[in-house]
Amino acid sequence: MIVIFLVSVNKALDLPIKWTILYVACLTFLYVKIYFLAMINKVCVLGAGSTKYGKLDEGIVEIALNASKEAISSAGITPKDIQAGYISNVFGVADKQVHMAPVIMSNLGIPYVPGLTIESACGSGSVMLREAYANIAAGFYDCVLSLGVEKVTHVGTLQSTTLFSYCSDFFYEGGSGASFPGLFATIARSYMNTFKATEEDLAHVAVKNHENGLLNPKAHVRKKITVDDVLNSPMVASPLKLYDCCPFSDGASAVILCNEEFAKKSGRQYVEIIGSGRGASPAAVQGREDITTIPSTIAAAKQAYAMAGITPKDIDFAEVHDCFTIAEIIDIEDLGFFPKGTAASAVTEGATRRNGAIPINPSGGLKSKGHPIGATGVGQVVEVFEQFTGNAKDRTIKDAEIALTHNFGATGASAAVHIFKKVK
Ligand SMILES: CC(C)(COP(=O)(O)OP(=O)(O)OC[C@H]1O[C@@H](n2cnc3c(N)ncnc32)[C@H](O)[C@@H]1OP(=O)(O)O)[C@@H](O)C(=O)NCCC(=O)NCCS
Repeated sequence: MIVIFLVSVNKALDLPIKWTILYVACLTFLYVKIYFLAMINKVCVLGAGSTKYGKLDEGIVEIALNASKEAISSAGITPKDIQAGYISNVFGVADKQVHMAPVIMSNLGIPYVPGLTIESACGSGSVMLREAYANIAAGFYDCVLSLGVEKVTHVGTLQSTTLFSYCSDFFYEGGSGASFPGLFATIARSYMNTFKATEEDLAHVAVKNHENGLLNPKAHVRKKITVDDVLNSPMVASPLKLYDCCPFSDGASAVILCNEEFAKKSGRQYVEIIGSGRGASPAAVQGREDITTIPSTIAAAKQAYAMAGITPKDIDFAEVHDCFTIAEIIDIEDLGFFPKGTAASAVTEGATRRNGAIPINPSGGLKSKGHPIGATGVGQVVEVFEQFTGNAKDRTIKDAEIALTHNFGATGASAAVHIFKKVK
């Protein structure tokens, strides 16, 4: 079109042909330059490692190093191949260590490699992963360590609840006595009233995630439970009972991210990240128009699906943020797996079990696997890597090729969604 236009202008103005050739050459050069500038590198997960989640005796640095070393060995690289470290952590202060990144890099024997510590409450892991992803996609690095870690159980439930409340909009929420169980109880009441969901429906989420967690040797709460066990467990914040809540956990998870060329050269199995999205919601629950949905999840998912060029129907399984049973029900609607108001009954009918239409949280999720908040978003990626590299054993989702991870901070003030493809 442009060439035809230029030729006609040239003819009309009776200009020499060499001018047309010059115009076309300049335009082609500009087009090629813009095309390459807009192109992003493919990003892959080359290795993954995780500690057990639960009450751990080791200190925060040791926990972090154990997961990192496992990921490095799983990727078949040495620390010297790592060009940057991305570390998600929220309450390092509880174990007397903030500024985690340089400490981890130094302990890995690469003190001159730059590291960055990222905090985004319970969503820290996925938000950090997104930054690591973006830096490889943009071509700044070929290979990075992406690590999440948390250590809180030694301070006890009371102190942990207080610390965690600092992740809410403290003026309106934590500072006014609204802990996270209390905030999610409010969300649960609203959802149950609006869509006629029941406490039994919520209990089915816990039963299913405990069933999956039982197959995960690294899960925190490995215990088979029934709907009655959930309904009869101690009340925490009505209608949420003990088994509707995730536990406080320690733990670390790490993945090695690299560009496609690096992954191919390694000759090892790897997983490709084909979509990445981030979203935000008003920090306080009271600032939202509708509390039966989480806007940050919807925004992040929309971006990730668009980037991957797929729809929710193409996802074979998902690891989602089930800090409380109600959260999983809302997540799977916001992610587009079920129409609004229908997920509770779908869960009760078994649609989200390992052999269901869309398996959710085969790892056991936050509910059973545990929730060491800085590590959670990375732990979800570890599960995808294990699933796609033949290491998920009895948890394996048959014939799965595309998976999604979803992780949010606080009541969903921040969120990130990633989509992964198995590379054969
Ligand atoms: C649910 C909760 C109040 C329980 O705290 P607690 O009563 O002090 O629990 P304890 O740590 O004393 O554990 C008591 C028992 O219950 C078990 N347990 C604790 N939390 C559990 C949970 N969420 N699910 C299942 N079992 C749990 C423990 O393993 C322990 O069992 P044991 O006696 O057989 O060892 C606490 O875990 C909690 O507040 N969770 C939510 C954390 C949170 O808000 N995270 C951020 C999300 S946004």
